[in-house]
Amino acid sequence: MSDWDRVQYARFAGARGRPFRDLLAQVDAVDPRTVVDLGCGSGELTATLAERWPGAEVVGVDSSPDMVTGARALPAALAGRLTVEEADLRAWVAHRAPGSCDVVVSNAALQWVPDHLGLLPALVDLLAPGGRLAVQIPGNHDAPSHRILRELAGRYGVPEAARRPAVPGPDDYLGVLGRLGCAVDAWETTYLHVLSGPDPVWEWVRGTGARPLLHALPDGRREEFAEEYRARLREAYPAEAWGTVLPFRRVFAVAVRR
Ligand SMILES: C[S@@+](CC[C@H](N)C(=O)[O-])C[C@H]1O[C@@H](n2cnc3c(N)ncnc32)[C@H](O)[C@@H]1O
Repeated sequence: MSDWDRVQYARFAGARGRPFRDLLAQVDAVDPRTVVDLGCGSGELTATLAERWPGAEVVGVDSSPDMVTGARALPAALAGRLTVEEADLRAWVAHRAPGSCDVVVSNAALQWVPDHLGLLPALVDLLAPGGRLAVQIPGNHDAPSHRILRELAGRYGVPEAARRPAVPGPDDYLGVLGRLGCAVDAWETTYLHVLSGPDPVWEWVRGTGARPLLHALPDGRREEFAEEYRARLREAYPAEAWGTVLPFRRVFAVAVRR
């Protein structure tokens, strides 16, 4: 898959930060020593963990060189308050000692890992007793933005690039983490993001969910595809006087290892 475009992703940083804050509001860890953010992206949100828990060693892990470069340039990283490792989070988790983390966070990243429910036992294993795992993933697989993307992908001959399995619901996280013996709080929220500017839903999805497909399209067809997708998105998400509303479902789970 193509690397992430940190600048494009950051265009909606405000709206994308809200679920992270809502997730962390339910993590009541007191004075954790080791805090890990898996799929930390450009690290601005990870840096807030270092502010919240000044006594903690905070580690961000991401596989994207562009994201890691951005995160390493943050004031928190330069001040030694945040360490950023470039790695596939699955490999990082596999090499980390069990019981060595007090808080493990993953915000809007695990949906990129195939069958990530299967990774949850390893994530819980990382936790010290009383440690917290906090996960948020987008759950908008059935939203018009994704349905249109899948339909166009089929027509443009690259359906596999748009094939992203439907993400699990809160009940799935509750079941898996509950069976692992954790105390679990799982829920979902649909945010109504009010976006501004021309083609804002296109600008949002091209920085994240539509990237694999745009990358897979042959040169020459990408612009044609983008034009058609933009027109369909304008129909599905009309611009109102107060902005363009993008409903966005997200799924959350916080687990405490007993
Ligand atoms: C949508 S961004 C979220 C970034 C950040 N957590 C946030 O909330 O702004 C997803 C991030 O997950 C990273 N990612 C995806 N798959 C990964 C993997 N297997 N290992 C490590 N990072 C991964 C991407 O590089 C990207 O930075």
